[in-house]
Amino acid sequence: MIDNRTEVDVEMQEAPEEEPARQRFFIKKCRELLQKREQELGRKLTFHDQTFGCQMNFKDSEKLNGILEEIGYVPVNSEDADFVYYNTCTVRENANVRVYGRLGTLKTYKKKNPDMVIAMCGCMMQEEEEVQKVKEVYKFVDVVFGTHNIFKLAELLYQCLSTKRRVFDIWEKTDLIIEDLPSDRKLKFKAGVNIMFGCNNFCSYCIVPYVRGRERSRKPEDIVAEVECLAKEGVVEIMLLGQNVNSYGKTLEHPITFAELLRRVEQVDGIERIRFMTSHPKDLSEELISVMAASKKVCRHLHLPVQSGSSRLLEKMNRKYTKEQYLELVGKLREAMPDLSLTTDIIVGFPGETEEDFQETLDMVRKARYDSAFTFIYSKRSGTPAAEMEEQIPEDVVHDRFDRLLKVVGEVAKERNARLKGKTELVLVEGPDEKDDTMMTGRLSNNNVVHFKADASVIGKIVPVVLEEAKGFYYLGRLSNG
Ligand code: 5AD
Ligand code: SF4
Repeated sequence: MIDNRTEVDVEMQEAPEEEPARQRFFIKKCRELLQKREQELGRKLTFHDQTFGCQMNFKDSEKLNGILEEIGYVPVNSEDADFVYYNTCTVRENANVRVYGRLGTLKTYKKKNPDMVIAMCGCMMQEEEEVQKVKEVYKFVDVVFGTHNIFKLAELLYQCLSTKRRVFDIWEKTDLIIEDLPSDRKLKFKAGVNIMFGCNNFCSYCIVPYVRGRERSRKPEDIVAEVECLAKEGVVEIMLLGQNVNSYGKTLEHPITFAELLRRVEQVDGIERIRFMTSHPKDLSEELISVMAASKKVCRHLHLPVQSGSSRLLEKMNRKYTKEQYLELVGKLREAMPDLSLTTDIIVGFPGETEEDFQETLDMVRKARYDSAFTFIYSKRSGTPAAEMEEQIPEDVVHDRFDRLLKVVGEVAKERNARLKGKTELVLVEGPDEKDDTMMTGRLSNNNVVHFKADASVIGKIVPVVLEEAKGFYYLGRLSNG
């Protein structure tokens, strides 16, 4: 019998079924192809990533970069590279617009370099109409995958390189969590750690539950093992990442609370600071407040998105708390941790928002006394319940409210951010100041930024700094001798 399977088919069949062994197999296969090509070209092959959106996407890009580096690609700081990927965001309309705006420039690079492979992934690629658009209009994009199968990069790339065909692989959902694949880190001393994926909240304006799928928690043993490994590599600060960390652990075979996870992570030697993101007010427990308050490692910063100060709108947003309940929670947090910095997210112009609703939001900012706030203009996302709501707010009204909100946020933040002036605080030094390289930049436990004179030897260390001047959103300081 004649075997007319192609070489690629044979290799696909030889690949182990189980993960991560399967991906390790394809990493090796890609590496072989790359080495061959490097010899022909007489140079190394390069990659570049363009990442949009939230911390989860940046974390995903670290994983993708880890795989690419293991394959043998060398990172470069230019889109004129042999492999370029866009990790996209779709939470607001303008995020999509920016992606398509940039994509055109890649086409010109590809004309010069026929070897170039262009990939797109992330939240936008979980939307069918966006994938269709890429398929039909952006024909120079070679590989497309979604949020659920980023671990498959090596396999998809191998398919593309060996068949010279476009590869589209988008999963509608998953309950897989693949451990033990490579990951790259931008900073040696600071790392993000996924603790859960997806979101079950379905806030009525938000596309995330549709593109990131249902809530899945990683096992606490796997998280602690990763943190121990990071500590051994010299990491001192970790950020625990999830769309709604306060509901961590509920879907585990042996459920544990987020507060319990924090207790376990805190015991890892070498880790000095623990941050987490994002908290949903409806799930923030008293147990968590007491673990935070008692901890020397959990940072004095909480990001607690409020979205609106109007109980009427909060109900339409499906947030499951009222203005009063939110403020009561803030009261408890401040009582337990008087030095806590509180930050938030606010949406302006949600369908049906009246001037009275908006005034409630301004009142919320003043009462909760936020250290800073990310403010967003409501963006209609098709497929979400809010997109179907009547009374979408006219643009001029929204812009006027947005400007007034920024002013109040700025006033409150300025007052709050002056409160540590004159004090000496511990600072994790992140690197040279972008504008003046005789200065270093670091962060306080409460996430405030400080610039101060020092040399590069303090980078990655936690040092005491006197906060001499408060400059609104940052401090100017000096290294303390004592
Ligand atoms: N329009 C505007 N802002 C939004 N966010 C989420 N969805 C939308 C939307 N459709 C904001 C919320 C959330 C943050 C990550 O993005 O404030 O907390
Ligand atoms: Fe979106 Fe709400 Fe889930 Fe946050 S909690 S990701 S705003 S649905």
